[in-house]
Amino acid sequence: MGCQYFEPTEGGANTYTVAIPKLTFGRGSLAEVGQRAAALGFKKVTLFTDGMLEQGPLVELVKQSLQKQNIEFNVFSDIRIEPDDDGVMNAASMLIDAQPDGVISVGGGSVIDTAKAAMVIAAHGGHIREYFAAPIGSGKAVSGPVLPHIACATTSGTGSECTSITVIRLNELNTKFVVASPHILPTVAIVDPQCCDSLPGNVVASTGFDLLCHALECYTARAYTQHLEVKDPNARQLIQGANPFSDLSAQKALEIAGQYLARGVADSSDTEARDNLMWGATLAGIAFGNSGTHLPHAMSYGVTHLMNDITSKDYQVASPFIPHGISVVVSAPSIFKYTAEAQPERHMEGAAYLGADVKGASTQDAGEVLSKRLIELMRATHIPNGLNAVGFDESHINALAESSFRQQRAIANAPRESNLVDLENMYSGALSYW
Ligand SMILES: [Fe+2]
Repeated sequence: MGCQYFEPTEGGANTYTVAIPKLTFGRGSLAEVGQRAAALGFKKVTLFTDGMLEQGPLVELVKQSLQKQNIEFNVFSDIRIEPDDDGVMNAASMLIDAQPDGVISVGGGSVIDTAKAAMVIAAHGGHIREYFAAPIGSGKAVSGPVLPHIACATTSGTGSECTSITVIRLNELNTKFVVASPHILPTVAIVDPQCCDSLPGNVVASTGFDLLCHALECYTARAYTQHLEVKDPNARQLIQGANPFSDLSAQKALEIAGQYLARGVADSSDTEARDNLMWGATLAGIAFGNSGTHLPHAMSYGVTHLMNDITSKDYQVASPFIPHGISVVVSAPSIFKYTAEAQPERHMEGAAYLGADVKGASTQDAGEVLSKRLIELMRATHIPNGLNAVGFDESHINALAESSFRQQRAIANAPRESNLVDLENMYSGALSYW
């Protein structure tokens, strides 16, 4: 293993904490929601979902399972892809009025993240911006528990059902920021692969690269022993750097992505591939929920902030829009070439887990080998060829870097330090690959 964790560093952490929800995985598990809710003592819940899912069979299944347990519910579906602070504050007001015993979310990352953020405001007040890390927010801590939450994922990418993180767009700055607190980890996670059966191939490609990057960023993140020690165990964040537990989940998720991503995209009837991708997304969520992502996610925020005339097929959203997984992976081959210098063994191992041929390669080649494997997978799944293909050129590089440079917490979790010029160079290397 290319990282010796148990050699203490001066001022660095020597402990790490692991937290995951009570997790159920498997076909048919969505029908268990009612029984899970009853076991938590819920009599009245709020069901978060989006407008599309509300009309479909998955939400109907959940409603029926609640009715069987005589649990009352109200539905909140006014949720957009890439949820924003206004939507969160609106959802929080609804929760305060509805006074449920608990929350159930059925959806992708947008739905689950809206539920998490709304519960913070409903329980502890303030505006969601206050909870963003500096320099955007004041880094206000979530001061105690929120409502119990059953999170049900309907895409094979987000992993949000297993994390203590919510990502919300701040309208005033037109970009996304993170709220992280152990208090927002869902109580119960239900991951039912049947939810992905009808997803179009290009949606599976985008969410698949989200899971792949979650896992690869965790596996190559700065080690927890190189993060500052936090004396108060209750103040210790789960974004704590790579650790032996996150490595386990990330390794398996990378193997799954390498083996099944192209198959799952190409053929919606390939149940083996799609079920594995759903499990990979869960594992990658568990990994990044206990370690944190770094530069590819940080630098995706500049891309979604500045996109202008891009539309995306199969997404029910007004343009401009770049799916999250694509916004992350378009820069990733260039970024990992930069970070490999700091942790070459980890980057080489990551490439090998993804299925790269690493025979005869030296650690000096790690960045190149990993980048090449990512590009192979992007081409096999029809991902846009770098930033050029999603509407950016050389003239946008400085603005992209300045926008993403605000994501200091994620940037600090990278194995190699970077300044504004380094970000510009990484974006320049991401303009096109083939
Ligand atoms: Fe992500």
